[in-house]
Formats: sequence, C-alpha cells, structure tokens
Amino acid sequence: MTTAARTPAACLIGWPAAHSRSPLIHRYWLRTLGIEGGYVIEAVPPDDFRDFVLRLSLRGFVGANVTIPHKEQALALSKPDARAKAVGAANTLWFRDGELCSTNTDVEGFINNLDASAPGWDKAQEALVLGAGGASRAVVFGLIDRGIKTVHLVNRTVARAQALAGQFGSGVQPAGWDEVEKLLPRAGLLVNTTSLGQHGQPRLEIDVARLPDGAVVADLVYVPLQTELLAAAQARGLKTADGLGMLLHQAVRGFELWFGRRPQVTSELRALVEADLKHA
Ligand code: ATR
Repeated sequence: MTTAARTPAACLIGWPAAHSRSPLIHRYWLRTLGIEGGYVIEAVPPDDFRDFVLRLSLRGFVGANVTIPHKEQALALSKPDARAKAVGAANTLWFRDGELCSTNTDVEGFINNLDASAPGWDKAQEALVLGAGGASRAVVFGLIDRGIKTVHLVNRTVARAQALAGQFGSGVQPAGWDEVEKLLPRAGLLVNTTSLGQHGQPRLEIDVARLPDGAVVADLVYVPLQTELLAAAQARGLKTADGLGMLLHQAVRGFELWFGRRPQVTSELRALVEADLKHA
C-alpha cells in the first residue's frame, strides 16, 4: 500500500510481516478520534531495514512501530530515550524536529496496564519475575523505575538472568526455577514474561496458593486471553493484569507521538481485539 501524501501515516516494520493487531488498534483510534491518518504493515527484510528507516520520512511516514527482528537495529539508527536504552531495543520511532527518535513502549504498556487493572500493586516490596528475555528487560526496568525494592529474576538459563541483573544493579536478584517455591511467599507481585502457558507451549506450573494475601499476578501471554496462571490467581481472589491489556496500553504512546492525541484504552477496543484473537 502506498502512503497517502496528505494524511499522516505510521507503519509496523517487521520480517516476516506477521499478523499483528497493531493496525486494528491504531485504525480504531484514528476512526473514533476522527483523525485522518493511516497505519499499514511494511514487510522489510533485515538487509533493507537501514535504508527503509533512513527514508521513513521520504516515504511519507510520521513514525513506525518496529518488531522482530529489527528492534536492536532500530535502536542503533535513532536517538533512543532512557527506556529504549535500558531495554536495549526500540519498538517505536518518531520524528522530533526532523530527528529520528525512539522509545520502548513495552515499559509503560506493562506499568500502565498494572495501574489500570490492579491499582495499588506498587505497594509490593518484592516482585518475582519469570523469564529473562526481551520482554523481561522492559518489565524489570519498569518495576525498578517505579520503586519496587527487590526484583527476583528467575530464568531457566540462569546466566541470562545474571546478565540482566548485572545491568540493573543490586535491586535485581537472579535465581533458578528451583527457587520459585521459596520466593513465592515473598512476592507481592508475580509476573510471567516467559512463553510458558501460551497456546502450543508447555504449561506454566505455579502454585499461587503460596503467594501472600493481596498479591497481584500479571501474565504477558495473551493467547489464550485468560492463562491458567491468571485463572488460578483469580480463583484465589487475587488481582490480575493480562497480556492483552499490556498490548493495548503499549500502543498508546506511539499513537500520541505520531498523531498528536493521547488515545484511551476502552472496553470497546478491548472487545474488538479479543474478537480478532478468537478468529486468528
Ligand atoms: P521475549 O522477547 O518474549 O522475552 P525471548 O527473549 O525469546 O522472548 O525470551 C523467552 C523467555 O521465555 C526466556 O526467559 C526463556 O528462558 P531461557 O532464557 O532459558 O530460554 C523462557 N522460556 C521459553 N521456553 C521456556 C521453557 N520451556 N521453560 C522455561 N522457560 C522458557
């Protein structure tokens, strides 16, 4: 699709151009806010990414989302903010006074979703984060930034948890899966950033009965929408924050940067994306 010369448009750059919910989300906001603009998917192979990004404006785009496998390259080609730097990856590009800037909106997507779904979650002194991949980096940065004193970081490959912890200082304590049982009673917040529990992946086996009263449970997995972990937490009466909420909240800032209005995550938008996920 060619970009409209007169109306502002943003795009999602990926390879392969996987089915993404971003066009659905951004077009919903454009429509409901009455903004004339566009959002398209651009399939760009790694070798062409640099050229594509350097000509982003010439192609008529006011900015872009960036996904696998381009997030690190996007960081290197732009002026990143503190979040993108800390996460080591950029997922959102925009122009400020002609300069290509970048951020990582997973950080605020995670935090704002927690604020919306489980207000008061940040009373937790200690958090337990499962997984030490790219998504975990954004989560850990957000938690430390928000003042959580201790983040216990558990990963199958402990060396990866150690490397991530090393980057964030003594507030992040690496651990192996064998320590989960011992850590659960201390965790005011439990976050799953691994792919465990996702459709087609192995189960995530966590005994939520071991969490303290009032603990909050977040899962980044959103297929299925309600993971086994979230269902168990809710059955125990604990507050939860789901992966779809994070996906919707992380889209807010990009839209605001490109189109100049801060959109809302509404129940109508959520229902729209839920319906799309069911038909995927
Ligand atoms: P993302 O960007 O979504 O975080 P990633 O960087 O590939 O993706 O990280 C996936 C996370 O899920 C990692 O923490 C991974 O653990 P390893 O670092 O040990 O690979 C975790 N993960 C994936 N499959 C897992 C499994 N079967 N058991 C335990 N952890 C798993």
